[in-house]
Amino acid sequence: MNIKLIYTRLKADIDLIEQELERAVGSSSTILEEASVHLLQAGGKRIRPVMLLLGAKFGDYDIHRVKYVAASLELIHMASLVHDDVIDDAVIRRGKHTVKAEWDNRIAMYTGDYIFAAALECITQIDNVEAHQILSHTMTQLCIGEIVQIQDKYRYDQHLRDYLRRIKRKTAILIAASCQLGAIAAGAPASIHQKLYEFGYNVGMSFQITDDILDFTASEKELGKPAGGDLLQGNITLPVLYAMEDREMRAQISSVHAHSSREEINHIIDRLKNSDAIERSHVLSRRYLDRALKVLNELPPGRHRNSLRDIAYFIGKRKY
Ligand code: IPE
Ligand code: IPE
Ligand code: MG
Ligand code: MG
Ligand code: MG
Repeated sequence: MNIKLIYTRLKADIDLIEQELERAVGSSSTILEEASVHLLQAGGKRIRPVMLLLGAKFGDYDIHRVKYVAASLELIHMASLVHDDVIDDAVIRRGKHTVKAEWDNRIAMYTGDYIFAAALECITQIDNVEAHQILSHTMTQLCIGEIVQIQDKYRYDQHLRDYLRRIKRKTAILIAASCQLGAIAAGAPASIHQKLYEFGYNVGMSFQITDDILDFTASEKELGKPAGGDLLQGNITLPVLYAMEDREMRAQISSVHAHSSREEINHIIDRLKNSDAIERSHVLSRRYLDRALKVLNELPPGRHRNSLRDIAYFIGKRKY
């Protein structure tokens, strides 16, 4: 099934989540509210709330309970984007100026904190210690993932396992928690919500690998955010790691440093795009996707399982 159809079917519930998001950030009448609403209204795919709703369908689905958890997860994601754009020095996000570009880094710092706090406030509607523990674990791991990435910049001696550990922390755990927390909020048994976590983890790994491929292969117009910045910023992503297995490429790539210009690295990017590094990255992304689909098959069959499968396929093929 088409991904749009999944969104259409869930539209009434997604609208309730949108209302909750607006309510959560919109009470201070300050620049923090303005900056948060700016990012909120810029859109985004809302993949995490949608996966959360589908996870909740495996339990006793009540949107008036689940919507708080869904909003909380999207807020954590948004807060991490505001901070990420400071770290990555990004000017465009969701087709609009980033908070750091529209205002400045100091405003972005507190806007991120403000949105994180709004996420915590939302989750207090759910009286479940396990849900709170999963949420805080997700947040700490995300911070660790992003800070380790800063420490690993321009470090050309790292391994595949360093990369995989980083993307697990910064991206996959949040998507895993989205799937799991939906089911927990709907009272599904551990046998179900643990499988959903595993499904989301594998989808999340595939998702970030695709994001890292798109940074090389897509245009800013397609992405709604600048492409080609990862290598320039010294982020050693999967395509870079694969390309570095070639001695000549390794020498060129490891000459990139904090003061390299875009012009200087353009020919390296071109060479990388024409090497097998991109296809090999797709292969690993697909392997995670296959694992996700295998886990999914262990869940009770039905419409919601099919929707999660379609979202997984969409993520595998996404172009934005
Ligand atoms: C971007 O996430 C950050 C990553 C984890 C790659 P999304 O691609 O889900 O961003 P939006 O919410 O659609 O803007
Ligand atoms: C994911 O990594 C960001 C977070 C987990 C916050 P990226 O830095 O690649 O995300 P984009 O490409 O800026 O959306
Ligand atoms: Mg980043
Ligand atoms: Mg970024
Ligand atoms: Mg990226």
